[in-house]
Amino acid sequence: MGRYIVNGGRRLFGTARVQGSKNAALPILAASVLCGGESVIDNCPDISDAANTVDILRTLGARVEVSGGSVTVDAEGDIGSAVPPRLMEAMRSSVIFLGALAARTGEADVVCPGGCELGPRPIDMHIDALKRMGCEITEERGHLRLSARHGLSGCEIELPYPSVGASENIILAAVEAKGETVIKNAAREPEICDLADYLKAAGADIEGAGSGTVYIRGVSSLKGPRHRIMPDRIAAATLLCAAAATGGEIMLKDVRPDDIRSVTGLLERAGCVTDIKENSVRLASCGRLRGAGLVETAPYPGFPTDAQAVLMAALCTAEGESVIRETVFCGRFRHVDALRRMGADIEISGDRATVRGVGRLCGARMRCPDLRAGAALCIAALAADGQSIIEDTYHIDRGYESFAGELAALGADIKEERT
Ligand code: UD1
Repeated sequence: MGRYIVNGGRRLFGTARVQGSKNAALPILAASVLCGGESVIDNCPDISDAANTVDILRTLGARVEVSGGSVTVDAEGDIGSAVPPRLMEAMRSSVIFLGALAARTGEADVVCPGGCELGPRPIDMHIDALKRMGCEITEERGHLRLSARHGLSGCEIELPYPSVGASENIILAAVEAKGETVIKNAAREPEICDLADYLKAAGADIEGAGSGTVYIRGVSSLKGPRHRIMPDRIAAATLLCAAAATGGEIMLKDVRPDDIRSVTGLLERAGCVTDIKENSVRLASCGRLRGAGLVETAPYPGFPTDAQAVLMAALCTAEGESVIRETVFCGRFRHVDALRRMGADIEISGDRATVRGVGRLCGARMRCPDLRAGAALCIAALAADGQSIIEDTYHIDRGYESFAGELAALGADIKEERT
């Protein structure tokens, strides 16, 4: 267990390198069970969700070495099909093992996945798609049992919503299936492209990743490649919002500016000045932010739901009003109660949060409710007057590499205590 002690009111200044992407690394680690030989995955973030995924791979029988930022996976030999409930329940992205194991062993035994509690997070699209590809799936006392006794066959699947996880599961199930799979209304998130790039380097035949229609023609085998995980666009958005909230100026390196256009555009609208180069973004906050008007979260290239909480934290002290509409996940306003206790003026009505900027926030004692909400509370604490104590920072460890250290290097007065 850990907590942060934050003394607010310091502007963030300096240069930070953006970590490898959590939401790309986890599916790519899961995909490594499909490959013969060794996969070497570079720029893998040092976060607890990645460590958990490595534990799942080892439990299944893969040999995994972690050294620096590189993870080497050798999944030759026998691979099991049961993911222990303890590991499955720790994070929602473990649902990706359904597609990976369906393709590798033709069997899977998993419990319904855990992770951040963002309202109900069904997996009906994943299950419907895998059934259409030839899997039998039954549910018994919270266990999902999958069997693809006759192998997997490609087909055309039109998703009712461009679900990131369902698109990834279908791609994994399809890469070695018989024939062609076409995903219509596929998710277009950059992490889908990173997964496809890893699989293509392994020998998969995939076209259209990053667009709404993805074509996957099954191949007979895959060989583990070397792949560098893309930069984390949500970690980048978090640092930019922290700089904006504190009236600071930071330079992010190792970032892909195109992936975070919706975030930099929004912060410009709120009064920040940016200088965007090929692999870097400089952001300067010129005094108090302005209210941002209406912001709606949406699938990529819209404003990411994962950056909604950190943006809201920055807008609490803006001059004027912002209305944040969360269209992707209901129940993703778990940061609001703590922000209100710090003095923020936020009104929730259905999927909308109206944020009326206040002059100052005051430090408070708070608990992280989930990963991104926890990061948002840290940002509010950095901008607030006085001291904040933020408990349950294990949520933040799930997705951010040494979060407190990174912020301290940019000038924040933040200390981490492990209890
Ligand atoms: C979501 C985000 C993704 C982010 C990830 C990690 C979107 C569209 N997706 O992906 O960018 O990286 O969280 O935090 O922003 N749904 C169903 N049935 C299903 C699957 C999903 O109803 O079988 C619904 C979800 O409840 C949600 C929406 O579809 O309302 C989007 O879900 P999805 O993209 O699948 O979520 P993640 O894969 O977790």
